[in-house]
This record gives sequence, structure tokens and C-alpha cells, in this order.
Amino acid sequence: MSTYSGVQDEDNFLLDKGRSRQVRRRSLRLLGSMIRPVRAKFILTIILVALSQAARVAGPAIIAFGIDHALPALRAGDNLPLVMAGAGYALAAVAVGVLTASYINATARLAQTMLLDLRRRVFRHTQRLSLEFHEKYTSGRIISRQTSDLEALRELLDNGVNSLVSGAMYMTFTAISVFLMDWQTGLLIMLAALPMWFLTRWYQKRSQVAYRASRVASARLIVHFIETMTGIRAVKAFRREKVNASRYEELAEDYRTVTVRSINLNGIFQPGLVLIGNVTVALVLLAGGFRVLDGGLEVGVLLALLLYTKRFFQPVDQMAMFYNSFQSASAALEKVSGLLEEVPSVRAPKNPVALSGAAGHIKFDDVEFHYGDGPVVLPQMSLDIPAGQTIALVGQTGAGKSTLAKLIARFYDVSSGQLTLDGVDLKDLSGTDLRRAVVMVTQEAFLFSGTVAENIALGNPGASQADIEAAATAVGADEFIRALPEGYDTDVNKRGGRVSSGQRQLISFARAFLADPAVLILDEATSSLDIPSERLVQRGLQTLLGNRTALIIAHRLTTVKIADRVLVVHDGKVAEDGTPDELIAGNGRFAALNQAWEDSLV
Ligand SMILES: Nc1ncnc2c1ncn2[C@@H]1O[C@H](COP(=O)(O)OP(=O)(O)O)[C@@H](O)[C@H]1O
Ligand SMILES: [Mg+2]
Repeated sequence: MSTYSGVQDEDNFLLDKGRSRQVRRRSLRLLGSMIRPVRAKFILTIILVALSQAARVAGPAIIAFGIDHALPALRAGDNLPLVMAGAGYALAAVAVGVLTASYINATARLAQTMLLDLRRRVFRHTQRLSLEFHEKYTSGRIISRQTSDLEALRELLDNGVNSLVSGAMYMTFTAISVFLMDWQTGLLIMLAALPMWFLTRWYQKRSQVAYRASRVASARLIVHFIETMTGIRAVKAFRREKVNASRYEELAEDYRTVTVRSINLNGIFQPGLVLIGNVTVALVLLAGGFRVLDGGLEVGVLLALLLYTKRFFQPVDQMAMFYNSFQSASAALEKVSGLLEEVPSVRAPKNPVALSGAAGHIKFDDVEFHYGDGPVVLPQMSLDIPAGQTIALVGQTGAGKSTLAKLIARFYDVSSGQLTLDGVDLKDLSGTDLRRAVVMVTQEAFLFSGTVAENIALGNPGASQADIEAAATAVGADEFIRALPEGYDTDVNKRGGRVSSGQRQLISFARAFLADPAVLILDEATSSLDIPSERLVQRGLQTLLGNRTALIIAHRLTTVKIADRVLVVHDGKVAEDGTPDELIAGNGRFAALNQAWEDSLV
């Protein structure tokens, strides 16, 4: 299934070393572009973190001073040093509290600002990308860009600063203090850092594998779930419940297994860390104790060193655990930056040619077209459609009728040759002009959430209620709309507001009528209507077509016969071209089609 391969593609893609440098650069570029607008606040936050960690490290040093200097002074009758030590410690404690609170607050706000901006960018960009992109990029993948990937980045931005940056600073400051107090203990800690480093590397490698496996397993699980639920009608119609359920159970079991595996790794890593930390404390105590006895080290300093040693390794745990979030955040960054660097294949012109009031003259000049890098669908199309002509496109499924229509709506660009509207290349028209001039109604007849009136008004956002009702009346939709629970104000997603697919099509006709384009394309737009509704639309259709240029793709000959001209498309070429009567009088495909239709009536 394509969606599964989508998940795997992404994973292989990540492992491909050749492209990884380029991908990393792209990720960093994105991260840079996120930080740049807030860089002053970003630097301020880092400073807050540094100050808070310095205040934390001050504690043990103050204690050492208290024991080694303030206590002897107190014995000698001077209590000022002790008061100073006490006050200093309290001050440091308050500073840690206040600074920590403020940097946590600052990071949260900063992270949310950056995410909000990114979220908007991802949405706008995804929406702007061409159909070609949306056809190859599954909706599941787009959804995860907006949800889990942004969530992973939130983790990075929130906890990244809190655990990684603060941890690293804390360890650095502690190491500096220890070396300043007693370099021998400093060396001892560095020695202990060695096994700690190996253990952490071991953990990171294993957990990265386990983590990836769990991401793949969870993605598969989600994809299967989404596929089952979005295809629920087909699932029920073909009694796929059992098969789907057992497949789901398999996938859920896989997910459980890999998750347990990654939890087991923590079961080794965390106790290992604690063990190394405590053994180091014992060694520092042992070595330091003897030196205190010799008079080579003061008691207070030893106590401070023990406190430092004990706390030195504390952030490692969090930092290593964070490694996975970091990994998934960088994967998310790779994917989101990849999405953001996709360019629309159908591009807006730099210097658009203005088109005031299109007439609707369409011309294909030696047009060749293929989807993406697929096979040629239209090998060589030359076609002149004068303004105001009503064209019926007929032909077998897969002949290329919809493709022709989509090219006129510029959902895709022609691969070679030229396609013009009123003599202007479609590529030179602004999006606004093009959308005003060309409207395509498809079988899909998508309704957005909102009222019926709002859905019709999409065709022309400035329209008044009277315009909307007139449009609905013109296409024969007024009657059923008035019969809805709240008439034009019925919400199409609420109970009672649900309309049949035929009614949806009538609404989309009204929408097109209101848009009043110069060129109207109906791609099997009447095919889900029953015969009586189609009769009704037939009348509306005449009004809808008016004197615009129209391309109608239909299978019913009654619809075809209202056309001025029929084009029979076969294998991406125009096989027959003429008025309905001319073609019926001949002995081509259309004549045969007409004969078959008449036979079926008898
Ligand atoms: N989005 C697409 N991507 C790749 N190939 C497509 C796409 N849409 C249609 N095709 C191919 O183009 C050919 C013409 O399709 P289409 O224009 O939809 O035919 P018709 O509308 O006449 O049934 C078919 O071979 C079809 O497989
Ligand atoms: Mg089609």
C-alpha cells in the first residue's frame, strides 16, 4: 500500500548518508529562521539559564566557606562571617528559585511564539503547494507534519533548554568549581566521567534504534487506523472488519514489543548511572578523608567536593533521556523543513498580465502533458475553443478528458506547448484573475462546514442574500434548500443539514453560477443526479451556461446534445470534432455511442 511505503520511504530517506548533510543544513536553516525573529529574547533566556546554574553551583562553595572560615571565626568571637555565609546561601537559594522560574517561563513563551509562527507557515505553505504535491504526499503525512512533528519541536524548544542547556552549564560550572577548589578531585571526577560516557553512548545507540523502531511501529499503527476509519464504508461493504482487526492487533503487538524494549534499556541505563555516581562519591570521600587527616584538605572543602561530586552526574540522566526527544525533534525538523522547501510546481507569475473581463477564448498550441514523471497523457493537443462555445467532451474512462479540463483550470502546467486564455498564457495570469475567469465543478462537489448560503457564497464572497437565492433558483436548487430545516441557514454538517450527493452538486452549481466565470468546466458534475434531478438541472444548466465558454464532460447524451460542439477524446487525442448532428450523421465513435444510447431506450 502506498501509505505504508510512505512511512518507509521517509525512514530510508533519513538513513541515506549522501543526502544527510544537505538535509542537516536545511534543518539548521529552518531552525535559524525560527530563532532569528526572537533572537534577543533567545539570548536573554540563555543568560538567565547561565545565571541560575551559577547560583546553584555557588551553594556548596558557600558551605565550605562557612565550615572552614566562619565557624573558626565564631569560636574566636566574630559572628559576622557566619551571618554572611548564611545570608549568602539564602540569597543564592532565592536567586536559583527566581531565575529558574523566569527562565522556564521565558522558554515556554519563546517556544510558543516560535511554534505559532511555524504552524502558520506550515499551513500556508501546504495549502499553496500544487495538486501534484498533494497527490504524492499522503494526507497522513501532512497531518503528522502539523501534529506530531510540531509537538516534537515543542519538546525540543521547551525541554531542550531546560534539560540540555541547563544540564550542560551546570556540569561545566561544577567542574570549574571543583578544579578551582582541588584539582585532584577534579581529575577523579574526570576519570569517573569516562565509564559514564561509555554507558551513555551505549544507551544512546541502543535507544536510538529502539526509538526509531517504535516510531515506525506507531506510524504503521496510525496509518492502518486512519485507512480503516476513512474507508469505513468499503470496510463494511466488503466485510473487512475481521481482517482489519487482526492486522491492527498484529501492529499493536509490534508497537508494544518495541516500546517494552526501549523501556528495558532505561532499566539498565539509570541504575548504571546511579552506581557510577555513588562509587565516585565513595572514592572522593576515601581519598579526601585521608588528606583531611594529613591536613592537606579542609573539612568544609571536602564536604563541598562531596556535594559537587554527588550532583555532578545528575543532569546526565535527563540529558541522555532527552536524547530521544532530541532525535525525534531533529527528524521532525528535517521533515518540516523538507515540506517548507517544496516549491509549488504551478507557480504564480512574477509579472502577471492583467486580464480585465475575460472573454473566454481558449487555445491549446501543441500541448504535451504528463503527470510528474509519468507517461505522456496528452501527446499533442492543438485545440481552439472560441469564446462562448459550449463543448461536450466525451470518451472512455482514462481517455484524458479530466486532464484536459484540469489544464484549463491550471491545476497543472502543460509539459510543453502553450495554453492560452484570450491570447494570454495561463502561466502569465495572476491567481485571482485565473480563478475569476475559470471555474471547474467536479463530481466531488465539496462542501465546507458552514451554512448552505455560505457555501454558495464561496463563488463570490461579496454576494448578497438575494444574489445567493437568485443563483440557487437559476440552477433549480432553491426548492430543496428552502425545504431544509433552516433553509439557506442550515449548517451542512449538522443533523438534518446533511444533503444528498445530488443536492451537493446543485449547491456547487449555484456556487459556480454566482462566481459567474467566463469559462465554466463541468467534469461529470451531473453524474450523481438521478434522472428527474438531472432534468431539473438540465433547465438550470442552460441558464448556468448562458453565453460563457463551457466544457462539459458527461456520459448522458441529453447533456451532450445541448453542446455546440462535441469532442471525442481517445488516448489523449481528439478523435472526432463537430456538432452533435454532424457526428451522429457520420460513422465514428460518437455515432456508435448515440446508437447505443437510442437502443437502450427501446
Ligand atoms: N493525478 C494523476 N497522476 C497521474 N496520472 C493520472 C492522474 N490523473 C489521471 N492520470 C492518468 O491520466 C490518464 C487520463 O486520465 P483522466 O484525464 O482522468 O481521464 P478521464 O477523465 O477521461 O477518465 C489516465 O491514464 C490516468 O491514469
Ligand atoms: Mg475524468
